Amino acid sequence: MNDLINKAAQLVARSGRIVAFTGAGVSAESGIPTYRGESDGLWKEYDPNIYANIDYFKKDPTYFWSFFRDIRYRTLVSSSPNAAHNALAKLEQMGKLHTVITQNIDGLHKDAGNTNVIELHGNTRVIGCLECEADYDFETINTRIKTQLPPLCDKCGGMLKPRVTFFGEQLPAGAMENAAYACANCDLMLVVGSTLAVFPAASLPMMASRSGAKVIIINLGQTEMDQVADILIDGKAGEVLPLLL
Ligand code: APR
Repeated sequence: MNDLINKAAQLVARSGRIVAFTGAGVSAESGIPTYRGESDGLWKEYDPNIYANIDYFKKDPTYFWSFFRDIRYRTLVSSSPNAAHNALAKLEQMGKLHTVITQNIDGLHKDAGNTNVIELHGNTRVIGCLECEADYDFETINTRIKTQLPPLCDKCGGMLKPRVTFFGEQLPAGAMENAAYACANCDLMLVVGSTLAVFPAASLPMMASRSGAKVIIINLGQTEMDQVADILIDGKAGEVLPLLL
């Protein structure tokens, strides 16, 4: 492990245009469960075709909103950045990292201080109306769902949903274009805490590699793109990234 970290540290030292690409594993040490991780995979217990699928949501939103109220909310609201998030923020302060591309919806990279964060799958802290596009904050809706499930829009009575990308939905406008541009213009991509199983997000490390960037994958366990990595470190993000720094 130390030899791998030293090799990775040399790449980081030589790089000036680093892009980080993160998944749920970077937030695991903040207490937010991953989706497919061995020990805490949310989708092992809750079927994403019911709890994170737009067609099912429109058919019966009470499943998602009960899951959000009883399970999801408490880990999201009580979480704060961990050593992995803080290390990526430090890399930006050092002028080495210019973009974080994240699949996560928890907002922790911005909380840690990274200023250029592309949230490919949106952000759960904003709840929006599917009809009139009105936005509501997380706390307002979390209070409301104690008495009104599913929550409805004050303005038009429409259905409310967190501004996150459900399966079957398009990614936020411009997200993939911005992410692809960052991948084409970096000299190193740090992939942290993702199985690289969900497209189009998972195509980005290959895109960076094909643009000539080196790719370091830091993940607990295998990913579906291990072959793309120039350096593969099987370890916890909150331990490896500070050592890398
Ligand atoms: N450090 C590093 N990696 C970790 C840690 C940790 N402390 N803890 C867990 N992991 C690893 C897990 O072993 C797993 O391989 O992080 C990976 C997380 O993978 P997933 O749970 O599949 O999460 P992610 O890749 O972000 O999922 C992509 O799928 O359901 C959709 O929209 C959702 O954005 C999500 C997308």
